This record gives sequence, C-alpha cells and structure tokens, in this order.
Amino acid sequence: MATREQWGSRTGFLLAAIGSAIGLGNIWRYPYIAYENGGGAFLIPYFIALLTAGIPILIMEYALGHRYQGGTPYVFKKLSKKWEWLGWWQIVVAFFIVTYYVVIIGWALSFTYFSFGTQWGQNTEAFFFNQYLGDTGAFWEAGGLQWKVLLPVLLIWAVILFVMQKGVRKGIERASKILMPVLILMMVAITIRGVTLPGAVEGLNVLLTPDFSSLVDPNVWIAAYGQVFFSLSIGFGIMITYSSYLPEKSDLANSGMIAALANSGFEFLAALGVFGALGFLAVSQGSSVNEVVNAGVALAFVIFPQIINQFPGPNSLYGVLFFGSLLFAGFTSAVSILEPAIAGVKEKFDLSRRQAVNWVCGLAFLVSLMYTTRGGIRYLDTVDHFINQYGVALAGLVEVIMIAWAVRKLGMIQEHINAVSDIRIGNWWRFCLAVVTPVMVTLMTVFNLMGEWAKPYENYPLSGLIAVGWSVVLVALVLGFVFQKIGWRQSAIGQKEAS
Ligand code: ALA
Repeated sequence: MATREQWGSRTGFLLAAIGSAIGLGNIWRYPYIAYENGGGAFLIPYFIALLTAGIPILIMEYALGHRYQGGTPYVFKKLSKKWEWLGWWQIVVAFFIVTYYVVIIGWALSFTYFSFGTQWGQNTEAFFFNQYLGDTGAFWEAGGLQWKVLLPVLLIWAVILFVMQKGVRKGIERASKILMPVLILMMVAITIRGVTLPGAVEGLNVLLTPDFSSLVDPNVWIAAYGQVFFSLSIGFGIMITYSSYLPEKSDLANSGMIAALANSGFEFLAALGVFGALGFLAVSQGSSVNEVVNAGVALAFVIFPQIINQFPGPNSLYGVLFFGSLLFAGFTSAVSILEPAIAGVKEKFDLSRRQAVNWVCGLAFLVSLMYTTRGGIRYLDTVDHFINQYGVALAGLVEVIMIAWAVRKLGMIQEHINAVSDIRIGNWWRFCLAVVTPVMVTLMTVFNLMGEWAKPYENYPLSGLIAVGWSVVLVALVLGFVFQKIGWRQSAIGQKEAS
C-alpha cells in the first residue's frame, strides 16, 4: 500500500503555498480592486480582513490538513461524518475556478509571444477583443471555437498534465522552486521600472491617496474580504490539501504568517508597478489616470499593451516580463487549484495518482473549451463572478461555522497548532474565527445578493446569468451531497473509514 506523498522540505512547501497564493489575483485583480475601493484607504479594510479572516483561516486550514493527512472530503469526514459534502463542495468550486483560470493563463502565454515586436499594433482594444478573442459581442452567441485561444490553452493543459503526473514533490514542488524565484525577480524588475517611469507619481498618487469616506461603504469591505479569500487560496480546499503533505514535524503558525505576508507583499509590489505604469501612460497621452485605468481583464490585455507600446527602451522585454509574470504566477496557482480534486478522487475511489490526474484534468479541459469559444469571455466573466461570491466565500463561511459552532473543534485545532509551532496562537484566533469572520462574511453575502437583485451582473441577460452563473453555484453544492452519498472504495484511507 503506497504511503502518502510528502513535500521534500519546508522551503518546498512554503514555495508551493506561496506559489498558490500569488496568482492572477495579485497582478491584475488587486491593483484595480484597491483603486476602485478607496485607493490608499483600502489598506485599512484589507488589513482588517487579512488579520481577522485571512491569516486565521489559513493557519486553521494548515492545521486541518496536517492533523488529518487527507484531502478535503476526508478531513471534513473525520471531523464529522455528516460534513463530508463540504469538502466536495469546495473541490467542485475549485474545479470550476481552474477551468477558466487556465484560459486566462493561455491568453497570457499568447501575449508573451505577441510582446515580441509588439504585435498588437496601435489599437490594442480591437486587437484583444476582435482579432484575438474574435468576440461575438453577444452573450448567447458562442460562435464556435477560437483556435488562437484554444492552442495556447491546450499547451498549458499539456504542461499541467505533465507536472501533475509527476506528483507533489517531483511535480508541484519542483515547478514552484523554479518558477517562484524567477517570478519574484521579474516582478521586482517590473515594479522598479514602473515607479521610475516619467509620470509614475501620478499613478501612485491615485493608488495611494486615501479616500476615507469609502470606509463607510459596505461594498469596500466586501471587496476586501473577497480579495483576501481568493488571493490567499482559502475556502476552496487548496491549503488543506497542500498541508496534508507536510511531515509530522512541521511548523504551522509561522508558515501561515510567512505565506500570508509574502502574498500581501507581492500584491503591493504589483500594485505599485501597475499604477506607476498607468501614471506613465496617462501623462504620455495627456490624459488622467482615472481615464486610462480599467477594471479586470482589459487592464492586463488592453491597457498594458498600450503602456508597452509607449515604453521608453526595450518594449518587447517589458512585455515579456509583464505577461511572463502573469503566466508563471498563474501556473503555480492553477496546479494548486487542481490538487484538491485530484487528492479527493484519488482517495475516495482508490485511484492511482495518474488515473486521478487524467480524470480531473481531462474533465477540466473539456469544461474550459467553453471559454475558448468566440463568445467565451462573457461565460468566463460570469462564472468568475458567481463562483467567487457564492462559492469560495460561502464555502469558507460554512467551513468556519462548522468548525467553530457545529463540531466545536476550534480548541482542539488550536492545541494542535500550538503543539507544533514556534509562535503560539492565542484566543484572538478563536474569536476571529468564531465571531468576526462569520459576521463579516454573512454580511458580505447578504449585500452581494442585494446587489445581484438590484441589477443583473454586467447587464448580461438574466437567462445567461441563471444558465451559466447561478447554475454553476448550485451544481457545486449539489455535487457536494452527491459525492457524500457515494461509498469509499477500499483504499488506505477507505479501509480505515469505510467501517
Ligand atoms: N490565490 C490565487 C490567485 O490569487 C488563486 O490568483
């Protein structure tokens, strides 16, 4: 009977955990979320969310995986037989995320190539939407597969398949050890160059000038909690699975702090680099930063190519650095988002790693085809919105409520953490998880739902939001219960548990 895989070293685990946290969310999500939600003042709700929810949940998830040595369904089943479904729910949420996440990495790969000789030309918006995506412009017009998008996505899937089949230590850990140092160097270079560009100070002023009135806006707090969940990779099974590969003697609290601070540090670095570059673009076009800044996908794939066009000096190199960093950051996160499903089905159905990887990656690839159609960007945007608001955050909320209030295991987990960690965690940790996080995330979900009710997301047709957005949320939840109903095959874990 095979023994459970393990990380090769603490550094290996930390690099993989930081690699999971640092992803697309840090490079294009954080800068515009901070900008839209009070600029410099956003740091206040962000830090409160980090300290009251992010770090406490991260350390709790490390402890769960480390204590029970299993994938998410197994861990929750050990806490209480009734709760296995929560593990599967988180796995399906993660599965849906990776299906579109890989497509964005595919775009980043294409744009790394287009950077050579700035192949996007002067009209970067037309290039991205019309020439590259072949966008149909309408929700219900999928318009067939777009080969230019499909090919890089296929390539990324092939590399992911290769890395995942190699396993935790030889695949994920090795990839993180190579990619993370390179990524950090690339980001430092982008930031130093970004903040020293002419006009950079204009952008930095916009990012850092605090608008304190924003602090009374509930949406700003929602954005802060949402960002922290997504960015730290908590609430969707990843950290539980990663820490289940830790050896018995492993520090948990300290590792959690290091990973969280590294992630936030990277996030700030990226925001400085991005806004410095936006200030430069605004000044060189004679417009204001508020006019050039753009939320979401367009920031990376429309505005950045414009910045690269104007760049004084080696434009192609700057483009390769920027899109290459999206590619690397995205890759180490994508493998982590896949791992909970791989570990979950491997254990439950007693599969070999190769079989589990083939099943999960094969299925995820098929779903990701939907976003490589010419109308795919709208499906991607819709799934991203709904699965984050009502998948990640909600599954994280149910997780803390279950542990703090239903099975009442916070005390036991606290003891476990303190028994193995250098830093002792105190009762503040329990208070944050039992009270602050549930209250804040419940409020956040209620406000989100009210917003959904008031105006259809992005004014997409209601039929589309139901068919693509709400249905994904519902499917994830229902599949959680379906998987719980299925019996465990007689495996190393199953044998212990089937009784
Ligand atoms: N934590 C990953 C990111 O920020 C998912 O993109």
